[in-house]
Amino acid sequence: MLVEGYVSTDGPYTGLTKDQLLECAYCPLWVRVRCLLLVAYWTSWLVMLAGAITLVVVTPKCLTPEPLQWWQLSPAYQVYPLSYQDGSHPPDGFGDILGIESRLDYIKDLGVGAIWLSPIYKSPMKDFGYDIQDFRDIAPVFGTMDDFHSLSRAMKERGIKLVLDFVPNHSSNLHEWFQKSVKREAPYTDYYVWTDAKGFEPEGTPIPPNNWRSVFGGSAWEWNQERHQFYLHQFLKEQPDLNYRNPWVLQEMKNVLQFWLDQGVDGFRMDAVAHLLEDEELRDEPVKDEDSIDEYSQLDHKYTFNLPKVLDILREFRILLDKNSENGTKIMITEVYMPVEKLMAYYGNKSHPIAHFPFNFELISVSQENISAQSIYSTIMTWMDNLPKGAWPNWVSGNHDNSRMATRFGNELVDAINMIMLLLPGTPVTYNGEEMGMEDTDVSWEQTKDTVGINAGPMKYKLFSRDPERTPMQWNAGMNAGFSTANQTWLPVNPNYKTLNVQSQLNAKWSHIKVYKLLAKARKTEAIMNGELAIRVLEDCVLVYTRVKKGFPGYMVVVNFAVDTVIVDLTKLDHVPNESFIYVFSTTYAHSFTAKKRISNSEVMMPGQGGMVLTFVPEFPEETIPL
Ligand code: BGC
Repeated sequence: MLVEGYVSTDGPYTGLTKDQLLECAYCPLWVRVRCLLLVAYWTSWLVMLAGAITLVVVTPKCLTPEPLQWWQLSPAYQVYPLSYQDGSHPPDGFGDILGIESRLDYIKDLGVGAIWLSPIYKSPMKDFGYDIQDFRDIAPVFGTMDDFHSLSRAMKERGIKLVLDFVPNHSSNLHEWFQKSVKREAPYTDYYVWTDAKGFEPEGTPIPPNNWRSVFGGSAWEWNQERHQFYLHQFLKEQPDLNYRNPWVLQEMKNVLQFWLDQGVDGFRMDAVAHLLEDEELRDEPVKDEDSIDEYSQLDHKYTFNLPKVLDILREFRILLDKNSENGTKIMITEVYMPVEKLMAYYGNKSHPIAHFPFNFELISVSQENISAQSIYSTIMTWMDNLPKGAWPNWVSGNHDNSRMATRFGNELVDAINMIMLLLPGTPVTYNGEEMGMEDTDVSWEQTKDTVGINAGPMKYKLFSRDPERTPMQWNAGMNAGFSTANQTWLPVNPNYKTLNVQSQLNAKWSHIKVYKLLAKARKTEAIMNGELAIRVLEDCVLVYTRVKKGFPGYMVVVNFAVDTVIVDLTKLDHVPNESFIYVFSTTYAHSFTAKKRISNSEVMMPGQGGMVLTFVPEFPEETIPL
């Protein structure tokens, strides 16, 4: 076949010969063309590469948040061991370690990631275990060291962390250190805060060195006839204060921490830490309010509370914890009741961290009289506005020292407060029983005083027992609410247990526990873990906040604190679209609400005293990419 335009004289075309090809290849014209093409090829590659690198460098980055740690991921749950579950054989009416172990599946199922255990150490129980006789042993009423290890193993198997109460301010007067200190035996002579009497009354009564008061009422000084000196006790006289001006004491307490770290615990809740140091000159405290409700609050505690060096001691504890943190953070939570602005110092700073978080008791300080959308708004904002940069918030709704949530705010608001608390940025801390809305029990001083084997109670509580929130956990409608099969329980079970108990709430279609579990689940989402918080009060009585992270479903908590129904326009909040879906709602709304229902955000009907959580697809204004 002939190729058009090519004339062959010798028959059909067979292509160029090798020699002809080589001749063409070395022809200067083709050499130049080839070179040009090669240069063009590589230049365009280089230009593209440079372009790509420039784009990567110039384009604003999405900051990847630091991965959160175990103590940030799930709610923490305070277990009050005396009241959780009696697991002894035969039953004795007191909660104990084996009892707690038997309830771990329930705790896991709630969605809780860590348990803070109130004291389980050997103690004469004058202050329910906060008076410790041996910091390294377990009180027989709670079980044995083997029981402790068994609990700790069972918790590890379930991925639940264990945080112990650590009581550094004082020991029991029965502690060996105190006994030896009384006798001035070295090195214990100055392990406690001892001082001479200011003088003696004519009839010989020793006069305390100053006007310092115990938190529980009366003078903070107790005369010891044997040593012929006063010792300091900021709590009960059976709880002498340790002397942190003696470096050996600090070392002893660090050894105690190390002991429990070696047992595998994951951290500590540190009790009453603002009391660790007092004025060396023992100066009188100024009287600030003669008419105050109790003696302790009459004084301005400038010489016994929150002395600057307290933070140095806590910093030492933190360093020790960090040294033990190779396989995960060992957490430090501090307990101090003080105004938020001052409390923030307990976080320390980036180079010298102290607590992972100091407990935030702001929600506890809200009472039934002053609860409102506005007061909860201020409570949240006070914490968030004062929070040091990079610090992690936390929210506490109740504990063994304060009236229960349902009693403070009313049963209707239990879910609403849990919604607010569980979906805010930070770690929520739930006191056992609050997940089902347990209420305070009428317990008289006499009943507290006469509890089986425990003859406890500070003076101040002679009028009002301090145990209403400490009564046994209500598991079911059976004998003693399923807490114990003993004839008598250490505190009476609340008579409402027949209807208010775990089992009935788990069986019910809708209940506080069911709400709690859904909230704990929602916490795991990206918007709750790492999203922004925006919060507002609408129509005076509705608190709304959103949690939004671009690219992920948003969450919105809406709570109506008023008694009457109100209609709100939720589209007033940034990123909120016209529609959202109901994720969870208060038990008080159960009659008219349905989960997953689509609702219009511009007109949301909120019945009184309740709340709901909505999910939505957040809207963001179109971004213009600069050319
Ligand atoms: C505890 C109390 C205890 C006190 C003294 C508080 O912080 O929570 O229950 O009585 O410290 O240890």
